[in-house]
Amino acid sequence: MIECPRFMKTIHVVGARPQFVKAAMVSRALKNRGEEFILHTGQHYSENMSRLFFSELKLPEPDINLEIGSGSHAEQTSGMLLGIDRYLKTVQPDWMIVYGDTNSTLAGALAAAKREIPIAHVEAGLRSFNRSMPEEINRLVSDHLSTLLFCPTDQAVENLAKEGITRGVHQVGDVMADSLLVFREIAEKKSTILQTLNLEPRGYALATVHRGGNTDVRENLAAIIDGFSRIDFELIFPMHPRTQKMMAEFGLKIPANLRVIEPVGYLDMLMLESNAECILTDSGGIQKEAYLLGVRCITLREETEWVETVSAGWNCLTGANSNAIKARFDDFHPKNERPQIYGDGHAADKIINILLQN
Ligand code: UD1
Ligand code: UDP
Repeated sequence: MIECPRFMKTIHVVGARPQFVKAAMVSRALKNRGEEFILHTGQHYSENMSRLFFSELKLPEPDINLEIGSGSHAEQTSGMLLGIDRYLKTVQPDWMIVYGDTNSTLAGALAAAKREIPIAHVEAGLRSFNRSMPEEINRLVSDHLSTLLFCPTDQAVENLAKEGITRGVHQVGDVMADSLLVFREIAEKKSTILQTLNLEPRGYALATVHRGGNTDVRENLAAIIDGFSRIDFELIFPMHPRTQKMMAEFGLKIPANLRVIEPVGYLDMLMLESNAECILTDSGGIQKEAYLLGVRCITLREETEWVETVSAGWNCLTGANSNAIKARFDDFHPKNERPQIYGDGHAADKIINILLQN
């Protein structure tokens, strides 16, 4: 007789833009196979940073939104910890699923660990080896508290092994690659962003900047903007609210070749990415999307967790260095093959199958 897997009860903890993308895929794969609860910490709350993603990605509305909002790392994380703990008491899930490396990830993992609820970490094992990044601390702690660690790459598995974590580790591929495969076609049908902005395919470059190390240090943000101004191309720049705030605070001017727009939804972003001549970014997710879409990527950081994109020859690192940004824009033109480093588009199914077997 075939044993029927138990109907499991899970909580997904989400809070920031990239987590909505990741959770949407896992939630889809879980459909009819388990009971799910979506806890939104409220870390991101602006319409175009949160609600728009739920509707475009068909991620079910949150069962609870803690509405934590912005604040210092301690304010955010402690508020989330309390709120998540209260919710865990009422739901008592079999699994807590946390995603990526934000403060919402850390709070989710800590709250579950304290209640002895097993944690599944999606996008485990990533390391920048730079502990001044808040995300690096969040990843380290979340990984060390997790029972199941879903790694997107072999490198991530290796990173965990070096820290002594080998049990519960599964290389499943990347859920953001799953998402791109599903939503790229939908974006092509539904998004009108190229027409709205009057853009020709490959006639513009796309930029995003939001890492604290780049936005909150005047010298770094100024160097990046200066590098952008020296590029002989129009740059479309959907500006993260954090960057908008810091540009104003530092009194930095927008150069003439830079078209700043509000952050866009996921479907518009996929269209902007796939038609760009080049992507300049400090985002983790966007480095991967550039690779998957075959668009050259200049990463405005000194290091990256997504090292495979660099070794495959499609991504290069400039840090916040104006000369390097200008030079790489002019001389970095990859032609290499793009091996399938982020899986076959079934990462989320693999995650759910493994969860059901545990
Ligand atoms: C967070 C994550 C980062 C992730 C990013 C995705 C941490 C430590 N950082 O960074 O890992 O890459 O999300 O985008 O968890 N703001 C708004 N509206 C919003 C959200 C933020 O105006 O909906 C503004 C506020 O001024 C806020 C600032 O952006 O202070 C930063 O927001 P925060 O959530 O602290 O960090 P992110 O930079 O978004
Ligand atoms: N994204 C988006 N609109 C934007 C900027 C980003 O839809 O204006 C998407 C992007 O395509 C990717 C995810 O958000 O799927 C990445 O989020 P972000 O860069 O904020 O965070 P990171 O990946 O660096 O944690």
